[in-house]
Amino acid sequence: MQIKSAKFVVSNQNVSNCPKTNIPEYAFIGRSNVGKSSLINMLTNQKNLAKTSSRPGKTQLINHFLINDSWNLVDLPGYGYAKVSRSQKNIFQKFITNYFKEREQLISAFVLIDIRHSPLPIDIEFINWLAQNSISFSIIFTKCDKLKPNVIQSNLEKYKLKLQEDWEILPNFFITSSSKFRGKEEILDFIGEVNLSLEKKSNL
Ligand code: GTP
Ligand code: MG
Repeated sequence: MQIKSAKFVVSNQNVSNCPKTNIPEYAFIGRSNVGKSSLINMLTNQKNLAKTSSRPGKTQLINHFLINDSWNLVDLPGYGYAKVSRSQKNIFQKFITNYFKEREQLISAFVLIDIRHSPLPIDIEFINWLAQNSISFSIIFTKCDKLKPNVIQSNLEKYKLKLQEDWEILPNFFITSSSKFRGKEEILDFIGEVNLSLEKKSNL
């Protein structure tokens, strides 16, 4: 799928204020600093559509971006950022989990995982929470430019083994690097195919 247009729509902290349009939506979630906003810029061919920072905690709101005037990408705040106060952390967690529970337009989430780390409890907990709540998701491994191919492969295998402790069916995986534009076509083609299947269903 080609991205012909990508426009910022709205930021807010409350799922009830998210756009009322009834178009498919895909959300990016993961630990702070994992590269969610960078990936959105990479996918949309824009440098500053989503705000990025080398310091964790940059994205603090639910941000909607309208793509090709027909579907939404959503940039979310990261979880697991230790430096925000406990009360603020709770607010983040609540409005993030509310978004996933209540947003009917959400078709699928992408959980971003930094390929350099072995499976972290916070990521496994979040993945398990999505699965338990029947929220469809794929996993995107980020920052693959930072490792050699054999290390990428062995870290990927470790992740699969960890998930197999809890789940029989594994989600889709994407291997990406925003700085090297790796994984772009695979993710966009995946979204394109899902959008097409939704269109076909609505024409039945
Ligand atoms: P929060 O909004 O704080 O939750 O972070 P985020 O997940 O949106 O991360 P962001 O996109 O702001 O990126 C965090 C840092 O990682 C920035 O310094 C990016 O330049 C860097 N980064 C993101 N993706 C990649 C990548 O694929 N490769 C490399 N080498 N660096 C990356
Ligand atoms: Mg961000």
